[in-house]
Amino acid sequence: MAASGKQATGTVEEASAEDERRILEPGAAPFGNFPHYSRFHPPEQRLRLLPPELLRRLFPQSPEMRPILGLDVGCNSGDLSVALYKHFLSLRDGETCSDASRELHFLCCDIDPVLVERAEKQCPFPDALTFITLDFMNQRTRKVLLSSFLSQFGRSIFDIGFCMSITMWIHLNHGDHGLWEFLAHLSSLCRYLLVEPQPWKCYRAAARRLRKLGFHDFDHFRSLAIRGDMANQIVQILTQDHGMELVCCFGNTSWDRSLLLFRAKQTTETHPMPESLLEEGKERNRLRFWRQ
Ligand SMILES: C[S@@+](CC[C@H](N)C(=O)[O-])C[C@H]1O[C@@H](n2cnc3c(N)ncnc32)[C@H](O)[C@@H]1O
Repeated sequence: MAASGKQATGTVEEASAEDERRILEPGAAPFGNFPHYSRFHPPEQRLRLLPPELLRRLFPQSPEMRPILGLDVGCNSGDLSVALYKHFLSLRDGETCSDASRELHFLCCDIDPVLVERAEKQCPFPDALTFITLDFMNQRTRKVLLSSFLSQFGRSIFDIGFCMSITMWIHLNHGDHGLWEFLAHLSSLCRYLLVEPQPWKCYRAAARRLRKLGFHDFDHFRSLAIRGDMANQIVQILTQDHGMELVCCFGNTSWDRSLLLFRAKQTTETHPMPESLLEEGKERNRLRFWRQ
């Protein structure tokens, strides 16, 4: 069976046997929809690289006290979404929002309804984090669901998008064009974008796991022209094709994944980049970029 022929379906009740199968056979999670993903790749690894004051500095309070809106694409069962929310509001375990004057809302989406149902059930901040099942590559549903969320706040774009460990799954299942379109859409939809791309060695590992299980390769794996240094490739696409600029690289996780912050050069809802962060970006920027 080809990976892209599979569908993410089911309910939480049906999920434990399926969970076990996907843990034992990671190739059976063709979208990267691993149950308990955060046990393998804990949120803390990413959070320790991100300044807790990041959002406060990117979006200093405006007189009209607009809430900050975030979009988490590929949220899995919400562990990282919740951790990011707490991190940026500097909340400790069990603490509720201490900075009520500054609202932060996340729309978190995932293609797998079982993971989304789990995320909803577990979320300690149901008023601030909304979880929806959405195949982000389905343009029609995407438009309806994202606009419906944004319109509640009278907005047309998100302040920041989180794109954490999902680019490879989009790329393997939708090819070069799919990855390009995915990044194009995100860059038109978000003023800032935090991206954690999977390196190329992960592509090979994912394809190997699938082959070991006797499945066909991912439809696009062998024909991908965008390959090699994936962090660099994604920087090139976002900066050269989609009108974003790289603000900084916050460093690399122990899984050798970099955390890259981009900013849209032009949006309909403009906001200047704080000088302090630009300086910090220059210092922290450890990547060198070039076209391969
Ligand atoms: C490897 S997990 C990363 C989870 C989380 N972002 C993190 O970094 O901890 C990738 C997630 O992306 C989701 N995903 C893959 N393709 C998707 C798509 N087309 N639309 C929405 N979610 C998708 C998967 O279901 C999976 O939960």
